[in-house]
Amino acid sequence: MRQSIILGIESSCDDTSAAVICDNTILSNVAATQTVHNEYGGVVPELASRAHQQNIIPVVELAIRKANIQQKDISAIGFTRGPGLLGSLLVGTSFAKSLAMSLGVPLIEVNHLQAHILAHFIADANPTPPKFPFICLTVSGGHTMIVLVKDYFDIEIIGKTIDDAAGEAFDKIGKIFNLDYPAGPIIDRLSKNGNPEVFSFGKPKMPLYDYSFSGIKTSVLYFIQKELQKNPDFIKENLADLCASVQKSIVDILMEKLTAAAQELKIKEVAIAGGVSANSGLRNSMQTNAQKYGWNIYIPKFEYTTDNAAMIAMVAQLKYQRNDFADLSTTATARYNL
Ligand code: KG4
Ligand code: ZN
Repeated sequence: MRQSIILGIESSCDDTSAAVICDNTILSNVAATQTVHNEYGGVVPELASRAHQQNIIPVVELAIRKANIQQKDISAIGFTRGPGLLGSLLVGTSFAKSLAMSLGVPLIEVNHLQAHILAHFIADANPTPPKFPFICLTVSGGHTMIVLVKDYFDIEIIGKTIDDAAGEAFDKIGKIFNLDYPAGPIIDRLSKNGNPEVFSFGKPKMPLYDYSFSGIKTSVLYFIQKELQKNPDFIKENLADLCASVQKSIVDILMEKLTAAAQELKIKEVAIAGGVSANSGLRNSMQTNAQKYGWNIYIPKFEYTTDNAAMIAMVAQLKYQRNDFADLSTTATARYNL
């Protein structure tokens, strides 16, 4: 492998992040998470791009400093080209282009979803990396899909959500419960004191490995509206059980399809990626299935699950080895297929 020191930049949603990688090892991974969206119940695109503009220079400077390198040591710059919020992506893209130009180093386009999946190859993401072919449930606030990873850059989507992403379902249901955004981690925490069997919200019937999460959101909404008419304190009095029940429903939906895919494709290398892979219920179900079906499971270290630039730097390094460079005419793109 050609020795390289690569700077990765991520700005697709509401995290401004920069990381430095050398030989699969992350030397630094810095992120500024935007709190400005919390009171709105979701990411506000204009506020996000403005915050990226404020954060990008200090975040990149800190990543370089923490990695104990200098700008002149950088071999190439990888950036998230998409998918994501266009205004947010533009900040990272423009910054990466200018820095690459001023340093005279190659520029590398990275697909954000590919990065979530290939984060498994960061040296300290797992005790050992997954072996090809593996399947990966990629679950975040913007995406939910099952992919078959035959090689680094040979990834096939075998199932995906037709409406909301799983993280979006957590966040929107959390909003119904008056929880802050992002509600996923809050629901996870509150679930620990709740009984998941108290409420049930039904399961969608979807073909093959596809998902749908808009039904569960609606069924929670109608259920809550009905209960609040009888008891205005219903949410407050039942919050832990509500959270545990919602979490169980979402995790069961996710795991049912993932298990079916693993069984039918006869694959025992099974990974999860993306922000929702931090969920304790999902992690426990993966452990249970590892025992039950003899799966080798791969759950990346927490810092590589939510949006981060380490995963962007990882993909950029793989592309660097292949001389897969972009020219300066590259632009950000809100939609970007795997
Ligand atoms: O990958 P990510 O950081 O950003 C996107 O690319 O979307 O994922 C963020 C999503 C949010 O919807 C958040 O609520 C969810 O991941 N999330 C969780 C947990 N931690 C983050 N959902 C459930 N349980 C968690 N522990
Ligand atoms: Zn993401």
